[in-house]
Amino acid sequence: MDDVYRYQRHIYDASRKFYLLGRDRLIDALNPSDDMHILEIGCGTGRNLIQTAAAYPNVHLYGVDISHAMLDTANQQITRAGLKAHVQLAQADARDFDPGSLFGQSRFDRVFFSFSLSMIPEWQRALQHGLRLTQDTGSLHVVDFGQQERLPKWAKTCLGVWLRWFHVHPDPRLIDIIESEASLDHRPVQVQSLYRDYTWLIEISAKQDA
Ligand SMILES: C[S@@+](CC[C@H](N)C(=O)[O-])C[C@H]1O[C@@H](n2cnc3c(N)ncnc32)[C@H](O)[C@@H]1O
Repeated sequence: MDDVYRYQRHIYDASRKFYLLGRDRLIDALNPSDDMHILEIGCGTGRNLIQTAAAYPNVHLYGVDISHAMLDTANQQITRAGLKAHVQLAQADARDFDPGSLFGQSRFDRVFFSFSLSMIPEWQRALQHGLRLTQDTGSLHVVDFGQQERLPKWAKTCLGVWLRWFHVHPDPRLIDIIESEASLDHRPVQVQSLYRDYTWLIEISAKQDA
């Protein structure tokens, strides 16, 4: 990932705001109470963590990413925003990491993946791990590329080429697999298709018996 982002990270936030659509809707949906613990898996430049801190100033924020280059940028931006005391960052592979040893916090009230599952090989493992890290009373949120079923065919084709160029591989089975993993964990799922199916916004809620 460092090869992908070594230079791109410098223009990442300015360019991605035009096509990573739906991130602020996910942040709205987090709706945490004060003092809750929120983890972003695949946090990139820290853009979402900074927006989350602005929306909910009294929560504790954590981010992991596999790319040292992205984490360097995230660290700089979080420091510049004066949020160093609110946000902890660590390098980790989403598919298997121990947040207890990284952050001293082993489970979280909110866990989210924002346009990261589509970049992670074996993303199901990352999802399963994210669910294990979510408190029984907490929720896991995903925003990622949909299948663009309601966009013109040419737009869908161009987007597919563009995304593959950036090592992004949206899985058409994303919703089905999330529903099946959530049901094994006795959690309900809400799915929204946004912007003509460009974006999927998915929430896995608290365990039903929690
Ligand atoms: C498209 S960026 C999204 C960044 C951020 N979540 C956002 O919404 O702006 C995807 C991020 O996932 C990270 N990533 C890819 N594979 C990963 C893995 N196996 N474990 C952790 N992070 C990973 C990349 O390094 C990159 O920062």
